[in-house]
Amino acid sequence: MKQALLNVVINGIQSMSQGGQLTISAHREENSVVAEISDQGLGIAQDVQHKVFELYFTTKKEGNGIGLAQTYQILQWHYGSVEFQSAEGVGTTFRFRVPLAASSLDAEADTATQTSPVIS
Ligand SMILES: Nc1ncnc2c1ncn2[C@@H]1O[C@H](COP(=O)(O)OP(=O)(O)O)[C@@H](O)[C@H]1O
Ligand SMILES: [Mg+2]
Repeated sequence: MKQALLNVVINGIQSMSQGGQLTISAHREENSVVAEISDQGLGIAQDVQHKVFELYFTTKKEGNGIGLAQTYQILQWHYGSVEFQSAEGVGTTFRFRVPLAASSLDAEADTATQTSPVIS
């Protein structure tokens, strides 16, 4: 999962050679964790947006086109998903969605049903 995130972070940094901010945040949506990685870079041209997760697709001189294909695969292994929104000249936001482990939901349910201590 660290690799999945790193691939997107590096792309974000590479897209901002003119400067800008990379933002990473995470929040919970029902039983999933949603992580968002936003850059203020060049953006992804509309006509290639459908190709960016393809293995070996790159628009970079020194690129190999492996990063996003790998990220996609890693998210699949975790029963999650990855999507993005991008606008040229504005930036790109990648969004990971990963279901919480059943064990952590169980632990939470246990905590929620604990009774308050009784003071006698
Ligand atoms: N944050 C981003 N901003 C702009 N373009 C991006 C971004 N992330 C991915 N891309 C586009 O998707 C392509 C594929 O990315 P990736 O699989 O990581 O391969 P690579 O980085 O080697 O080119 C990049 O070449 C680029 O065109
Ligand atoms: Mg890359």
